[in-house]
Amino acid sequence: MPFSPFCHLIASLWHNSKEIRRIGVYTSGGDAPGMNAAIRAVVRVAIGKGLEVFGIRSGYTGMIESQMVQLQLRDMANIIQRGGTVLKTGRSQDFLKREVRQKAVDNLKAQSIDALVCIGGDGSFRGARTLWEEHQFPVVGVPGTIDNDIFGSEYTIGFDTAVNTALDAIDKIRDTADSHDRLFIVEVMGRNSGFIASHVGIAGGAEEIFTPDALTTVDKAVDHIRESQKKGKRSSIIVTAEGQKPGRAYDLAVAIRKKIGLDAKVCILGHIHRGGAPTAMDRIWASRMGAAAVESLLSGQCDVMVGVDHNQMVFIPLETAVGTEKKHSPELVHLSSILST
Ligand code: F6P
Repeated sequence: MPFSPFCHLIASLWHNSKEIRRIGVYTSGGDAPGMNAAIRAVVRVAIGKGLEVFGIRSGYTGMIESQMVQLQLRDMANIIQRGGTVLKTGRSQDFLKREVRQKAVDNLKAQSIDALVCIGGDGSFRGARTLWEEHQFPVVGVPGTIDNDIFGSEYTIGFDTAVNTALDAIDKIRDTADSHDRLFIVEVMGRNSGFIASHVGIAGGAEEIFTPDALTTVDKAVDHIRESQKKGKRSSIIVTAEGQKPGRAYDLAVAIRKKIGLDAKVCILGHIHRGGAPTAMDRIWASRMGAAAVESLLSGQCDVMVGVDHNQMVFIPLETAVGTEKKHSPELVHLSSILST
């Protein structure tokens, strides 16, 4: 598996200093379907290689409060198909404080945990980085977020399920939009990124896709809708990312009404994206990434994130993963607009 010379250097230094016997695994940030498959892979691969594994509950909160429990092979039974995370998750503000992080590290050491696997998004990885930087506590990251916004990996756990969940909703909305000849604005999650919106938009045949990169404007969308109406189109779907610039879905509806007097129905999908059984794709990548994370630690490689590049596992320095913006390709947004005429 390829990895950069930079992290290899760090890894070698660390590897020579300590042997791993017990690892901790935690999920952090927003839950994502497939996290359970990743936990299962971490636990089963680690135990298979003779390690002990502790599950840390509720992300950094569990580290701070010492909520850690040893996991066995059988604890992982029947979880691969479940959404959410059996370890629970959270967004800890306390962990931003240095003295609180010291307490977390003391707790890890008290449990004789030698290294960690962090399953989460960029906020979680920032926390993981501080553990390495401040305390030389070895951590490997596994990207788990529905947003798919982590640099260094084409893919994050939960993205495929979230897209399919939103797509299912759009297919249903299309029925009623068609029956009533209506315009619908469907808002999808993704924080400041447009990956969910562009993928859902193209797969759902959206008229326009609004992403945070502002590739589409209200004027362009309105012109497009007018043109389509002239060609006989009676119903349309606009997909908008929650973080896009002209505003949230209701603001878009108001702007469109002002410009062409058309009433749009608004549907905000929200946290529904995060639930449900993970797709096969999410389960497969989660399993592969969880396994690769353990192997990375055992080879002495830490402070890295497991990623996917051209269908291959790669390792990216965590610093690069959290410090670089993952750019959204305009291609899908443009294509969707052409295809929906
Ligand atoms: O990062 C995943 C995500 O679902 C984003 O798409 C969304 O903006 C955010 O989390 C919502 O977070 P919370 O569940 O804390 O409201």
